[in-house]
Amino acid sequence: MKKILVIHGPNLDLLGTRETDIYGKTSLSDINNMLEKVARKSNVTLEYMQTNHEGQIVDAIGGAPKKEFDAILINPAAYTHTSVAIRDAVAAADLPTVEVHLSNVYAREEFRQTSLIAPVSTGQICGFGPHSYVLGLQAILSLAKK
Ligand code: DQA
Repeated sequence: MKKILVIHGPNLDLLGTRETDIYGKTSLSDINNMLEKVARKSNVTLEYMQTNHEGQIVDAIGGAPKKEFDAILINPAAYTHTSVAIRDAVAAADLPTVEVHLSNVYAREEFRQTSLIAPVSTGQICGFGPHSYVLGLQAILSLAKK
């Protein structure tokens, strides 16, 4: 693994102030800094994006193989539960992809308990707050060692 695309989906730009009882007070840039520390130690480059727009996520995933990304770390946020387009993009890109969530989506409302993305992902990690991202990145790095 050399280059990993990190995708933060809708409303994650608001982390730190958004529903802090569920998502905590850590901001998105704090999360990116946590990831950066792991990346530096492992000699991998991370490229980050956050968007509230489904099509931009589809474009980023679709373009990832051409841009020579080796893997994708994604929190699709609300699109997890709705987006056939993102699911199809993940399947088409055919790169190791780890889905992460701050909250334990299986302990929440019923509509959050289905992920359209998980079945086409390498794996899913949820429920560990910001640490879910670190675990997700470590999971991707562990694939390279296999
Ligand atoms: C989330 C869970 C989703 O259900 C929700 O829509 C989000 C955040 C999480 O990280 O826990 O926006 O992906």
